[in-house]
Amino acid sequence: MTEYNTLTLEKAEGIATLTINRPKMLNALSQEVLEEVSVALDEVEKDGAIRVLIVTGSGTKAFVAGADIKEMKEKNAVEGTIFSSLGNAVFSKLEQLRQPTIAAVNGFALGGGCELALACDIRIGAENAKFGQPEVGLGIIPGFGGTQRLPRLVGTGKAKELIYTGANVAAAEAYRIGLLNKVVAVEDLLEETKAMAEKIIKNSPLGVEGSKKSINQGMQMSIQQGLALESEVFGALFATEDQKEGMTAFVEKRNAQFENK
Ligand code: CAA
Repeated sequence: MTEYNTLTLEKAEGIATLTINRPKMLNALSQEVLEEVSVALDEVEKDGAIRVLIVTGSGTKAFVAGADIKEMKEKNAVEGTIFSSLGNAVFSKLEQLRQPTIAAVNGFALGGGCELALACDIRIGAENAKFGQPEVGLGIIPGFGGTQRLPRLVGTGKAKELIYTGANVAAAEAYRIGLLNKVVAVEDLLEETKAMAEKIIKNSPLGVEGSKKSINQGMQMSIQQGLALESEVFGALFATEDQKEGMTAFVEKRNAQFENK
């Protein structure tokens, strides 16, 4: 198993939990963190026993307070582009991970932290969660996908308001605008996130992975291309044992036992 300096990766009962672990810096994303997240994602992708990935930050104050401003401060234009490209590559890898992903958002999710949550499939927030894209106050723009994923999730008008003002959004408002799927008590965050992961795990892995692929790829296509892709993924699943098991179990009035084949 790989050793990490800036994060922990725990695996139990089909769930991997990736925790960004730089609490003194409010889990800010340095180049090293991004490189380690990339390696950890490869480890999760290859692990056939892992069915859901949870992404969180250590402590209760911050999920991730953004890209590491102290590290970015002296960068020139070329280095800035390279850093943004690294973050975008790693977050795209997260977005396209084979398994479904859930961000468990504890406290500040600002800048790159908001963007990390946006790259996950589902976001559950503690009552103290605060989202924001404060980059314009630093003389830059969001650089790890915020200008692209935020408008796709909450709509262009709301995303422009959040990015132009740099204002923070509390958990209840984040839920109202669709940035959070659910808000829970601070002390229940990981337990509630695991409960959702367990619900996902009960279903056919190939069905869940096929749904993720169809939604993610379909969102990049015209509706007609997306519907054609859906029919292709739908049809391919009829060649699997899990489809036979799922439908047989329904007819026999018992729980399905999926084997991922
Ligand atoms: N980068 C580097 N260090 C950070 C950091 C960041 N993004 N966020 C917090 N820290 C550090 C602080 O500098 C401080 O370190 P020192 O003790 O050495 O001074 C430590 O974490 C604790 O933070 P604060 O003392 O500031 O804690 P606070 O409770 O007073 O404030 C906060 C909390 C409101 C989150 C504040 O820390 C803050 O505003 N952080 C920066 C948020 C931000 O601007 N994020 C966007 C970064 S740019 C980006 O992400 C670009 C992109 O899209 C890729």
